[in-house]
Amino acid sequence: MSRGVGTTSCPRAASAVEQDVPALELRGIAFAYPLLAGLLPVLAGVSLAVPPGGWATLIGPSGCGKTTLLKVAAGLLRPAEGEVLLAGQPVDPLGKVTYMPQADTLLPWRDALGNAILAAEVDGRSRAAARAAARDLFHRFGLAGFEGAYPHELSGGMRQRLALIRTFMSHRDVLLLDEPLGALDALTRAALQEWLAEVWEALGKTVLFVTHDVEEAALLSDRIYVLSPRPARVVAELPVDLPRPRDRTSGEVVGLKAQVLTHLESDG
Ligand SMILES: Nc1ncnc2c1ncn2[C@@H]1O[C@H](COP(=O)(O)OP(=O)(O)OP(=O)(O)O)[C@@H](O)[C@H]1O
Ligand SMILES: [Mg+2]
Repeated sequence: MSRGVGTTSCPRAASAVEQDVPALELRGIAFAYPLLAGLLPVLAGVSLAVPPGGWATLIGPSGCGKTTLLKVAAGLLRPAEGEVLLAGQPVDPLGKVTYMPQADTLLPWRDALGNAILAAEVDGRSRAAARAAARDLFHRFGLAGFEGAYPHELSGGMRQRLALIRTFMSHRDVLLLDEPLGALDALTRAALQEWLAEVWEALGKTVLFVTHDVEEAALLSDRIYVLSPRPARVVAELPVDLPRPRDRTSGEVVGLKAQVLTHLESDG
């Protein structure tokens, strides 16, 4: 199913009017870190929009400001200029979106199921309902049978799957995923890409995703934002209207990868 921007196939949009309003929008975001020697400019007026139930990917060179941008979108950093909008309203997004950081933040003293239902517990939701929902996701992500395992008993790929389950267990509509498939071998990564696409499709979440991997961007996104080296600005915004599931060897995917690479190499 194509979930391209502006199509009528989005399952969660109640009306055509609503569909035009992005679930998440960043407008003209500028940010600099204060250093002893002065300011380090990191974001130079970044704008992007993700429609409800859409998947937008940020891709750009290491150190260009992708994590910083996600932290602004999460409300963890306040921009010097620009604003964050949720469903068309300028807001402080802190606590209103779910942010999965680049580093693994599983709690070592909780078993896998306990980690997965953390957000539900913090929100005061029913633990029984959360456990049932989590079990379904353990199954979808190929972790059935490991509900009682502790993080140190899981492999790197399993820990990443568990962190993703925890993120998708969130009741927030907007998920910010910072390289959730980084540091995995190619086979595990390919399987996880498929699981991730399926779960996203099934749950209808709005995703802003960061990756270094051009193929991953081409396989998963319905919009790709290519960023310049620091200070980041958008050098290309590529809509992707290809049916899913996508075949990494198809001409369209290969062509899209080449297009993204050209923009990355051009430095804008
Ligand atoms: N807390 C901080 N204080 C000062 N500078 C920082 C801080 N965090 C990041 N930076 C700097 O800001 C720039 C952007 O960092 P950021 O982590 O956003 O990049 P990134 O695009 O996510 O990189 P990567 O792809 O390697 O994860 C880098 O030059 C980094 O050194
Ligand atoms: Mg980063």
